[in-house]
Amino acid sequence: MTTLGSSRVSMVLDRLFDEAERGDPLVREKVKAEEVRRGGPQEEDAFKDLLGEAFMPVDRPSGRFLYNLARTQSHPLIVEFGMSFGISTINLAAAIRDLGVGRVITTELDAGKVRRASAHLEEAGLLDLVEIRQGDALETLRDLPGPVDLVFLDGWKRLYLPVLRLLEPSLRPGAAVVADDLALFPEQLQGYLEYVRDRSHGYSSVEVPIGDHFEFSVRTP
Ligand SMILES: C[S@@+](CC[C@H](N)C(=O)[O-])C[C@H]1O[C@@H](n2cnc3c(N)ncnc32)[C@H](O)[C@@H]1O
Repeated sequence: MTTLGSSRVSMVLDRLFDEAERGDPLVREKVKAEEVRRGGPQEEDAFKDLLGEAFMPVDRPSGRFLYNLARTQSHPLIVEFGMSFGISTINLAAAIRDLGVGRVITTELDAGKVRRASAHLEEAGLLDLVEIRQGDALETLRDLPGPVDLVFLDGWKRLYLPVLRLLEPSLRPGAAVVADDLALFPEQLQGYLEYVRDRSHGYSSVEVPIGDHFEFSVRTP
């Protein structure tokens, strides 16, 4: 039995996925209507208030992928950009619980989401394994307690590359960097993808067609 499969964690995840399935489509409709009113697609920051109610979570297989990947580590420091209501964080923290060592540092801009995600992690029995840093990732992730083994990028897309560049000096050789949403935001992620797929930047990188598609990059300095 894994922590991810335990009844305590499953009950929390089941409820959160249910809430996301009911609420997120309504938020998406409002965002689309607002884009039409403003004359075209906008940056995600333009909908901060609307998106404050949206989970925008990884799906279950993607969550399992993150759990499994974290389980391949021996004593990982995991950094997450974009916690939202904590679904991906729960998957990562469940792996740390089963490893018995390691830590997740996650960051989230929205104070309301931080409050609710903390409660979800507490309910899942995982809050003690997670350090939540509220604020802009470009500030909150400036200081880290040691080399980073696994990064999950799932905040606003235009920030993936700046956040990666910020973390780069802390990446351990062989560190894994997973970036979500290639299928949803191909244009916004083009610069990021060009960067990690250029071997001269020190990554081996490949698209993984799971959920909204991950880019899975391994640090190969
Ligand atoms: C797609 S959601 C994350 C979903 C989450 N990883 C999950 O699977 O449940 C993106 C989140 O990133 C947060 N975010 C966006 N820009 C950020 C920034 N600069 N710093 C910290 N968090 C940010 C948003 O507020 C939003 O809640």
